[in-house]
Amino acid sequence: MNAAYRINELREQLEYHNRKYYEEDSPEISDYEYDDMLRELETLESEHPELLVPESPTQHVGGSAKPEAGKKIRHDVPMLSLEDKFSREEVVDFVGKMKRELGDPTFIVEPKIDGLSVALRYRDGEFMQGITRGDGINYGEDVTANLKMIKSIPQTLSEKIPYLEVRGEVYMDNEVFEEVNARQEEEGKKIFANPRNCAAGTLRMLNPQVVAERKLSIIIFNLQAVQGKEFKSHAETLDCLSKQGFQVSKYTICRTEDEVWEAICAIDNTRGEFSYGLDGAVIKVDSLSDREKLGTTSKVPRWSIAYKYPPEEKQTKVLHIEVNVGRTGRLTPLAILEPVRLAGTTVSRASLHNQDQIDRLDVRIGDTVIVRKAAEIIPQIMSVIKDKRPDGTSPFIIPDKCPVCGSSAVRETTNEKEGSGILCTNVNCPAQLARLLIHFASRQAMDIDGLGPAVVDALLEKGYIKDLSDIYYLRDRREDLIRDAITGRSSAKKSDTSKSTDKLLAAIERSKDNDIDKLINGFGIRNVGKFAGSLLKNNFADIFSIVNASIEELVRLDGFGEISAKAIIDFFKQKQNIYILERLQNAGVNMKSKAVNSTIDNVLEGSTFVLTGTLPTMTRDEACEMIEKHSGRISGSVSKKTTYLLAGEDAGSKLTKAQGLGIKVLSEDDFMNILK
Ligand code: IVH
Repeated sequence: MNAAYRINELREQLEYHNRKYYEEDSPEISDYEYDDMLRELETLESEHPELLVPESPTQHVGGSAKPEAGKKIRHDVPMLSLEDKFSREEVVDFVGKMKRELGDPTFIVEPKIDGLSVALRYRDGEFMQGITRGDGINYGEDVTANLKMIKSIPQTLSEKIPYLEVRGEVYMDNEVFEEVNARQEEEGKKIFANPRNCAAGTLRMLNPQVVAERKLSIIIFNLQAVQGKEFKSHAETLDCLSKQGFQVSKYTICRTEDEVWEAICAIDNTRGEFSYGLDGAVIKVDSLSDREKLGTTSKVPRWSIAYKYPPEEKQTKVLHIEVNVGRTGRLTPLAILEPVRLAGTTVSRASLHNQDQIDRLDVRIGDTVIVRKAAEIIPQIMSVIKDKRPDGTSPFIIPDKCPVCGSSAVRETTNEKEGSGILCTNVNCPAQLARLLIHFASRQAMDIDGLGPAVVDALLEKGYIKDLSDIYYLRDRREDLIRDAITGRSSAKKSDTSKSTDKLLAAIERSKDNDIDKLINGFGIRNVGKFAGSLLKNNFADIFSIVNASIEELVRLDGFGEISAKAIIDFFKQKQNIYILERLQNAGVNMKSKAVNSTIDNVLEGSTFVLTGTLPTMTRDEACEMIEKHSGRISGSVSKKTTYLLAGEDAGSKLTKAQGLGIKVLSEDDFMNILK
């Protein structure tokens, strides 16, 4: 492949993954995969210096301040990243280079905490402002209100230091992370991939109360700027910051290559004792004047490196191999493992994907296996320790009967992405229905907040739902839902259960208004996803014209393949599906394409909204999305230009100001009435 072509390809991919990691808190690849790409790009650029450009991801720190979140704040001191190293040789090289340049420097080795970087500013000993890294050079985001909720950030320092800026890593304890995810799952909300993403997502939320509930912490690892005090070494600054009330990085002082390596290994060996995730060790020159002498590149300091630990691996036992049935009827083998702690979470299951993978690993029930998990990726079984295999095991074969409904399961033709799968042949299989309901309610489909796996299971178990359309008739069974505590754990108080039931019913009602691409995606038709849904929405006036479309009409749409067209035709050929569609229509679910019939979308044109307080059923993001969908504008503060203040419980000064200016104040109900 041509170098210029590959360089461009790598730059595009790295920019994409930077966005996923820094702005969306939702990485798709591990740090290792990212680093591999970055190294390949660095090598290619050094071989072809004529192709190097300042915008290349090798020349700048990953993130950029998220425009829609908090206010942008200019960095006084850049928040640089660190150069990553992966081997003992590279660490020894760094120490040797520092010795050559500085004589006999002292080194500091610290744990590298896997969280997100923030800078904290104090004036006269009072906490004043907290900023995320953003682009690291120019701007970060103002997250002061959220940081005020973090207990380990002192609001007042022990001494009245005139000015101080420190930098630290915000993190979430592993235990808290597991509690948060358990609750998210119960409420049908997004599951976070790891404690770091959860901490990052939390810090960017607009509600400081949630930050308080999620118990974030911080460890300070650098003094960025100070007035009124003088320091000679990094160790001295950390000791002083600890006296000011900060939780600071634990550090080891080293003088030789061997001492540095020993300190790195000692951290690695005690990783399991930390209540939070570590992803490496940081090696720093201790003397602040030496640091100054060495300076920085545009991206990293020359006086420090990070040694990244390889993905954690542990041995554990396969207790059982469970076969689950997915939404599309695919039988997926899942290894149930003796729980082990790995990279910040307890791992007790690992997907085995398909029969080919089971055969390749030759994994059997009772085997001891090696599992690997990098911080962001799902655990994987790497290999089987054959010497530890107990007697009497036999190869595992996925059954030819669906474990849920007992219908026959058949091998499908090999699919490039997923390998060859085994499918349950029964379209009414209850397992498929559970998955289908969860998918239907998910954000990319009908986006029904609160209709997650736990609630779906409870609804199916109690017989409230037999097919998709039953979701929209649950409103007629409100009292039964409360009695059976469908939306809460059985121990929840009755008043909480009725509140969460009403929230769920309101979310269901709201979803009726969605455009038809969300509904089409919600049907979970194989090979018809978000993209096909939006093509259909843009080209057909309503669902029923899609039902009646011919295959030729469908494939004529630019970007619509024959496989998707055929899947649509097959789906609507089934009487059961038309019946569901009609029940959905009778319940009031929107069947018209808003993209094609776009007149109703402008009811809020010319109106500016300000939001305050907690709304009874809608999240702030949902309210904003609805306002924008109907062409309204959103502003952060009340002024004469504000048309409406949408106010919920605990509305604060914005309400008083709006009342003073005679601005119309809307409750959630008033707001919904305007949209009707
Ligand atoms: S020192 C100029 N020390 O790792 C100071 N960073 O991969 C450079 N990190 O952005 C950073 N623990 O957010 C330093 N003990 C530690 C750290 C640490 C975690 C993070 C930090 C940095 C990232 C670089």
